[in-house]
Amino acid sequence: MTLGVPFVYLQGVEKRFSVDSSAVAVVALNGVDLGVQRGEFVCLVGPSGCGKSTLLNVVAGLESTSAGQVLLEGEPITEPGPDRLMVFQEAALFPWLSVVQNVEFGLWSQGMDRRERKKLAREFLRIVNLSRFENALAHELSGGMKQRVAIARALAMKPKVLLMDEPFASLDAQTRDRLHEDLQNIWRATGKTILFVTHNVDEAVYLGDRVVIFTAHPGRIKREVKIPLSRPRHKQDPALAEMARLIVDELREEVWETEREELGLTEDEQNGERWELVRKRLEELEFL
Ligand SMILES: Nc1ncnc2c1ncn2[C@@H]1O[C@H](COP(=O)(O)OP(=O)(O)OP(=O)(O)O)[C@@H](O)[C@H]1O
Ligand SMILES: [Mg+2]
Repeated sequence: MTLGVPFVYLQGVEKRFSVDSSAVAVVALNGVDLGVQRGEFVCLVGPSGCGKSTLLNVVAGLESTSAGQVLLEGEPITEPGPDRLMVFQEAALFPWLSVVQNVEFGLWSQGMDRRERKKLAREFLRIVNLSRFENALAHELSGGMKQRVAIARALAMKPKVLLMDEPFASLDAQTRDRLHEDLQNIWRATGKTILFVTHNVDEAVYLGDRVVIFTAHPGRIKREVKIPLSRPRHKQDPALAEMARLIVDELREEVWETEREELGLTEDEQNGERWELVRKRLEELEFL
């Protein structure tokens, strides 16, 4: 690694998308500077459309940048690679392969021999507590179990960076809590570098060493909040609730701005007058 350069380093990153060959480009990222240390767990939060997934895609090498640079261990990221793997909201398992075969798949494509890849896949299934289900098919698993397979599948590939885009967003609260606990332990045991996108601030403060807050579209970093609490952390810790409150306050303004922009609301309409206008209009229409 180049001396002094963070493990993952985004410098002045800009990403513009041209839509329908129109002259006006969508600015998804705008002057983003972010350094992530090896082994750090960094959570990204921000209003919908602010560019969080775009940032992960850029680190994954799935999207190019319009300006700026993205480095891993001091080397530019130019294409996807097994050293940076994504875990998405939907696990996207191969439905015709068993759980263990799904975990083995990437290892197989890298040419690992059968015995070795089976051993490794089983080891990672043990880590995510799915040993009993190694022969099950995807449709036989709950949503939480599928995400466990996706995590095992990614970890087995020994990535340098794990990129997680709202991986628990579609799970029920209890399953999510269990997965938080397990991910915390997996991260402590493996020392992986993780970039984790979420809308759930409680999740971000529970898991992260640092929470990076994005502004409303176009995405810039508004503020970074260090979470200086030791692990293992506990959901009931009042210090976590305090940090979450701080971040929610920072986020509220950004979420409102996004809403105003998307729905074309004035500040007054957003603050409540809108419903007075709705009521008057319905009265005029003799609906009320
Ligand atoms: N392939 C694309 N082509 C055109 N515009 C895109 C593309 N991908 C993303 N965008 C736009 O870039 C902006 C950022 O999108 P992105 O998906 O990164 O946001 P996000 O923060 O992940 O949002 P969410 O929280 O809803 O997942 C949005 O305005 C989006 O419409
Ligand atoms: Mg997204």
